[in-house]
This record gives sequence, structure tokens and C-alpha cells, in this order.
Amino acid sequence: MDSEKLPILVFRGSIGKHPITKGYARMKAIIPVAGIGTRLRPHTYTAPKVLLPVAGKPILAHILDELTALGLDEVTFIIGYKGEMIRDFVNQNYKVKANFVEQPEMLGLGHAISLAKPFHNSDEPVLIILGDTIFSTDLKSVIEAGESAIGVHEVEDGRRFGIVELNDDGSVKKLIEKPENPPTNLALVGIYFMKHPTRLFDALDAMIEKGTTTKGEFQLTDALQSMLSAGETMKVFNVEGWFDCGKAETILATNKALLDNLNGHGNETELQARFPGSVIRMPAAIGEDVVMEHCIIGPYVSVSAGTTLRNCIVSNSIVGCDSMVCNIVLQDSIVSDNAKVTGNHYRLNVGDSSEISLD
Ligand code: UTP
Repeated sequence: MDSEKLPILVFRGSIGKHPITKGYARMKAIIPVAGIGTRLRPHTYTAPKVLLPVAGKPILAHILDELTALGLDEVTFIIGYKGEMIRDFVNQNYKVKANFVEQPEMLGLGHAISLAKPFHNSDEPVLIILGDTIFSTDLKSVIEAGESAIGVHEVEDGRRFGIVELNDDGSVKKLIEKPENPPTNLALVGIYFMKHPTRLFDALDAMIEKGTTTKGEFQLTDALQSMLSAGETMKVFNVEGWFDCGKAETILATNKALLDNLNGHGNETELQARFPGSVIRMPAAIGEDVVMEHCIIGPYVSVSAGTTLRNCIVSNSIVGCDSMVCNIVLQDSIVSDNAKVTGNHYRLNVGDSSEISLD
């Protein structure tokens, strides 16, 4: 798919309508989005992961809408895989000053962030957010506090995550990748506020120069750890809502959670009026120019613009743009853009006491 099709591909909705308000602080961000998204294939064969829709808009739009509402001034995207599509999406939908830096090879998150140095090599604080991390947290307080801080979320089993060990005063003592015996259950979620970006870039450059990798990649965690060892102070802040979008099950769970929490219940009357003859079971998010005939849609369904749904029952699913779904019952499904999914219509003449299964 070429990037010229992008405006149709991603979303024709209400993103980017937040005025950029400079409420309380100058705010810069780095968002790495270069990854290939292998765990979300086949959907990432034609679009980068961060442009996949969830709860009515692309993953990246959830992040950018949150940041622009807070007064984002400038953002640097580290692009790579299908980077042109991300560049077009941002430029077409957001007015914020956006820089794009190419990461030619996936050498790890630490390497990706190091490439943002030309735009952030000053003492202006910077927020780093993974492009596939949708969050809900009080970022305003973090930025206003002005201290370096790492977003954490309490998890049940810390062995699968990067874990933060704390000093008695609550500051960060140590960062440990997937420890066998986690000292805390505070997992790194992928949001970092850096008061002194220059120090972070120095640590990243030193790590890359020395060729220090963990699991074959230049890790952001390793550079942060070397800053801590050199005496840097960092705090933690709680990220209550941490919505992963890394694989099919988690993107569906995120779709459900976001529709439930954020906006999915608000417009039932309007949706029902748009689609007479169909039943919308909220929460659901239905994009512009969707055609719907004789359907039961929802709960927890996100349908992007231009899609046609006919004679179908769809629940807990995501359907992309300009697709066609007909004569079928779908649940827990993801259908990407420009796809066609049709089931069967049967005409049966079934005798008494018969048993028929059309699985
Ligand atoms: P992931 O580890 O989830 O990688 O990166 P990925 O490529 O997106 O997905 P999989 O593992 O292949 O399925 C977390 C975030 O960091 C970015 C990714 O784009 C994603 O937003 N990243 C990671 C980079 O920009 N560059 C890197 O070298 C690594």
C-alpha cells in the first residue's frame, strides 16, 4: 500500500482538533516508532503498528491527542519501518512542530533515542514515550514537578518486565531487566521524563561507542542505569492506565478497556440514529462514512471510516477502513483496511428431528 492512500487508510475522525495550548510549560517529546511490529502481523505488513486503529483512532493518535492537550510544543519521531506513512499521518493531522529522524536499522530503543540528539541537545526537559504505549496518568504534574521521573505500573509478576528498585526516599536505586527475584513489582511502562536530556544523550553515546548491548540491542534502560550509577536522581510516577498494543490479544483488550473508560458510551443515541435498522450495543466507536445494514454491532467494537457492514453480528472486534464485512458472526477479531470478509447465507429445508451443524 502506498503512503498516498494514507488519509483514507487511517482515520477520518476528530483527531488533531485540540488547540495547542501552552498552559503551563514548554514541552518537548521524543516518540520512537521505528519498529517493525512483527507480533502484529499480518496487520503490520501494510501499516506501521502505531497507525493501527484502537477504540476509534490510531494508537499514535491516542498518545498525540493526550500530549497536544497538555501543550506539546515540539516532538521528534524516530521513524523506520513504514516511516513515510507515520510522517504523512502526523503532518496531515497535527499542527505541532514535528521532526522526523530515520533509524535505518533496529538496533534497540537506546539507539533510537540517541538519534534525537540534534533536536534535544539542550537543557530543555524532554518526555520520552514509546509509540505503542497508550497511557493514562497525571503527566501534567510530572512535567510541572520538573524532576527526572520514570513511569511505573504495579504488576503481579515482575519477572517479565523491566523493574525499578527504589531507595528509602522513593527515588530510583536501580533498573533491572526481567529479574528472577524482583525487589518490587513496579514495572517500567515506557514513559520517561528527563530533566537533563544532554546527560541522557552522553550516556547513550558512551554505551553505543563501547558497543554495550543487552540481548543484542542498545537498551535505554542500560543508559539510564549508567546515569543512576553516576549519581543522577530520578523519581517514579504511577501510570494507572497502561494499555499495551503489542499483539492481537492485547490490542483487543486495549480496545475494550479504552472504549469502556474513555469515550465509548457517550454517543449511543447519535449512533443509533445514524444506523436505523441495525442495533448498536455500546460501547462502540464507528467512524465516518460507515454503511451498516441489518447488523448487531458491539459491545466493544471499533469500526474505521468507509467500511460497509451488512447482515452481520460483530462483538469485541476492530474493523479497519474501507473494508467489507457481510453475512457473518465475528467476535474477538481484527480485520484490517481494505479487507473483505464474507460468510454464508443458507437456505435450509430441515426435517423434523434433524440435527444440523454448519461449523
Ligand atoms: P517493540 O519492542 O515493541 O518492537 O518496540 P516493535 O518492532 O514495535 O514490535 P515487535 O516486537 O516487532 O512486535 C517498542 C517501541 O520502541 C520502538 C518501536 O517502534 C515501538 O514503538 N523501537 C524499538 C524503535 O523505534 N527502535 C528500535 O530499535 C526498537
